[in-house]
Amino acid sequence: MSYLLGVSPQEIRRLEFQEKVWGWMTQNLLDRLGVRSPWRCLDVGAGIGCVTLPLARRLKPKGEVVALEQSAVYADLLHDRAKKADLKNIFLINDRLENFKWRGPGFDLILCRWVFLFIKDIESRLKRLVPMLSPGGYLAIEDYHDYRGMTFYPESPAFERVIPAAQKWFAKNGGGLDVAGRLPAIMAKLGLRVVDFRPNVQAGGGRSEVFRWAELFFSHYIDSIAQAGNMTPREVRDFKKTWLLRKKDPVSRFVSPIIFDVVGQKPRR
Ligand SMILES: C[S@@+](CC[C@H](N)C(=O)[O-])C[C@H]1O[C@@H](n2cnc3c(N)ncnc32)[C@H](O)[C@@H]1O
Repeated sequence: MSYLLGVSPQEIRRLEFQEKVWGWMTQNLLDRLGVRSPWRCLDVGAGIGCVTLPLARRLKPKGEVVALEQSAVYADLLHDRAKKADLKNIFLINDRLENFKWRGPGFDLILCRWVFLFIKDIESRLKRLVPMLSPGGYLAIEDYHDYRGMTFYPESPAFERVIPAAQKWFAKNGGGLDVAGRLPAIMAKLGLRVVDFRPNVQAGGGRSEVFRWAELFFSHYIDSIAQAGNMTPREVRDFKKTWLLRKKDPVSRFVSPIIFDVVGQKPRR
C-alpha cells in the first residue's frame, strides 16, 4: 500500500534529507518530554526510520520502539537500517494505522511525525491510539500549520500560485497541510490534556539546506500539484524558471511553513 507521495528513490532521498534539516525539531520535543530508558514508544508512519532510529538510541538500554509503517518497501529499509545500526530495541509492524491492534502494555509515548496530513479521518484514527497510551503517556504529533505562511522573497506570482495548489492536493487526499491547528480540540475531545503546542520554522537563502528541502519536494511533485490546483503549463514553467533564478540570487529568502509540535497527555487516573 502506497501513500500520496508514493515510494520512489527520490522520495527516500527526500525523507533522508528532511531528517538532516528538521531532525533537531523532533529531538527538542523528545528532550522536553523527557523521553528516556525504559520508555516504550510507538512511532506511527515510521517511513524509513528517520525518527525511529534516533529514538531507539535514546531509549537504550531498556526502552523500546514499535515502528508502524504501511509500506513494505519502507518497512524493509527501516529493518535494514536498524540492523546496520545494531539497534535491537525496534519492533517493526508492516501495517496501516487503520488495522493496527495492540494488546501489549501501554505506550509512554506515541509519536506521529508528518503522518496526519495524509489521513482524512483524524479523530477516528486518534481514537484508536488513545487507549494504547499508558496513564500519563503522551500522544505527540508534528505536522504542518497554515501552509500559506510559507513565503519566498522577493515575492513572485509563480510561487503564490503553487502554494494553494499544494494545499488542494493534500486536502483532497488527506488531513491537509493545515492540520496541526485542529489537533488540540480533537485531543481534548478524546480526553487528553494538551500540554505542548509549539511552532517550529526555518528560513534561509537559495543555497541553504531549508531551501534545498523545499526544492526536493516541489521539483519532484510539481506535476501532481499543478494538476490538483489547475495550474497551466505556462504557470508551471514560470515556477520552475523562477525557482532556478532564486536559487542563485544572493538576496532571495525562503521562509518554511510552520510545523507544530502538538502533545496531549493521558490523565494518570
Ligand atoms: C512523510 S512520511 C514521514 C515518515 C516519518 N514519520 C518521518 O518523519 O521521517 C509519512 C509516512 O507515513 C506512512 N503512512 C501514511 N499513512 C499511513 C497509515 N494510514 N498507516 C501507516 N502508515 C502510514 C507513509 O507510508 C510514510 O512512510
